[in-house]
Amino acid sequence: KKSDSVVNFGRKSAGRLLPAVSTRDNKARRGRSLLLAGSHNYPGAGVLAARAALRMGSGYVILAQPNIAVSSLENPDFLLCDLNDKRWEELKFDAILVGPGFGVNEFTASVIRRLKELQFEKVILDADALTVCAQENLFPLPRTWIVTPHTGELARCLKVTSEDIDQDREHFVKLAQEKFQCVVLLKGHGTLIRRSARTYKILSGNSALAKAGTGDVLAGMITALRAQGLRPARAALLGAYLHGACADLWVAKGRDSLSLMASDVIEILPEVIHRVR
Ligand code: APR
Ligand code: MG
Repeated sequence: KKSDSVVNFGRKSAGRLLPAVSTRDNKARRGRSLLLAGSHNYPGAGVLAARAALRMGSGYVILAQPNIAVSSLENPDFLLCDLNDKRWEELKFDAILVGPGFGVNEFTASVIRRLKELQFEKVILDADALTVCAQENLFPLPRTWIVTPHTGELARCLKVTSEDIDQDREHFVKLAQEKFQCVVLLKGHGTLIRRSARTYKILSGNSALAKAGTGDVLAGMITALRAQGLRPARAALLGAYLHGACADLWVAKGRDSLSLMASDVIEILPEVIHRVR
């Protein structure tokens, strides 16, 4: 049955989904991404996600935190917002990311609850946001949302162990989609993406990505694609494919797999996009 087979997602499929560029483009049309990411303890997570969203084409990127811990002079390419001074709901944005390094706390929970209440469609939840969803039982989520757990995060959400998930990733991504209702992207060797009744396997990526921060980059990329209007499963598929392809190109250029840093993924992304187009 179609619903049980896994569909491969490779370079050709990616080429078809890539946002077209036009002479009439302007920054608003390329989408506004709001990133609730990073914190005093993890300022890097927000910066990585923001830079990745810009490289993925988002016309505006706003990084917002309570007590913003990032300097605007050192980060002139995106906007910063201190959530002590302004409420995130008052900001103008097309897509919103919540989670990477943002903190497991009541504020994160309140944002997710409010986004559900507003029925806001273009939402990506990662990292701390998923831990909060597990703790506060915020599932199911709207069908247009995307969650991007690594194995440990998915284990927490499903109340199983990481070892359980490693035994049968296809089964657990399907189970997760049934419980969460939204698009589920299960990270790791052989990234799987499940939307209603279909699982896709991403045919790019390698263990060079096994370094803290690369997940934050992926979350920023997917947010930028949602902000540009790609449908949820497509944004997840294209983002994950290009992210993996960055690591593949890194290795193909003769750089060692051990040496890749999250910032290198952001730096090599323009060449990867150009090659896929
Ligand atoms: N093969 C292919 N891809 C891999 C591999 C591998 N062996 N290992 C990791 N990756 C990819 C994943 O698919 C994912 O895209 O690297 C990325 C890692 O993402 P995360 O696990 O979310 O790591 P990251 O968030 O960058 O780590 C920082 O934040 O989410 C928390 O718990 C996480 O402590 C961690 C921290
Ligand atoms: Mg992560």
